[in-house]
This record gives sequence, structure tokens and C-alpha cells, in this order.
Amino acid sequence: MAEFDAGPSEGFPEASPVRVDADGSEIAVVRLGSRIYAVADCCSHAKASLAEGEVIAEEASIECPRHGATFDLETGEALTLPATASVGTYRATERDGRVYLQAMS
Ligand code: FES
Repeated sequence: MAEFDAGPSEGFPEASPVRVDADGSEIAVVRLGSRIYAVADCCSHAKASLAEGEVIAEEASIECPRHGATFDLETGEALTLPATASVGTYRATERDGRVYLQAMS
């Protein structure tokens, strides 16, 4: 995926996940302070949308809304059951008032 313009920075409020369709890749984007995280918007357990889940700001993780598994926003690692597999992560950057997403190389 080439760099994708996900839109203006104000569209990504603090600790509130936003679902972005980046040329067919569904991505959950989360702002925490000065950091922007981006993970695949598909829980590895049973494919729920992580963008509909809750962000746990203190540990930079996100909780799946369906069965409660949590995932590290930085690495995509599954932190709690019932998920055991990681979710994909994307490079997220912010510049000139916009957020950009890119596949990890
Ligand atoms: S679908 Fe996410 S924990 Fe089951």
C-alpha cells in the first residue's frame, strides 16, 4: 500500500478509534497524545471491528468489542484471550495537519 492520506488531523480525536478504508484495507486508527497508531481493523479471534472497541490509554492497547481480547497498539500483539494471534500494524504519521498511513515494509 502506498502512503494513504487518511484525512485531517482533527478527524482523529484522542483515544477514540477511527475506522479508515485505505484503498480496500480496513484500518483502526487511534490517537494517544502525540502518537498515532494504526492496526488492522479486524480482530484475529472472530473478525470484529477493533475500531468499535475501547482504547486503554494507560497501556496503549485496544479492547475488542465482541469478546474482550486486547491488542497492543504498537505491535499488534494479542495481550489477552480469547485472541492468540496478532493483528497487523501500519505506519502512521502526522504532518501538515493530516494523517498518513503506510504498510509496514
Ligand atoms: S472477535 Fe475479538 S475477541 Fe472475539
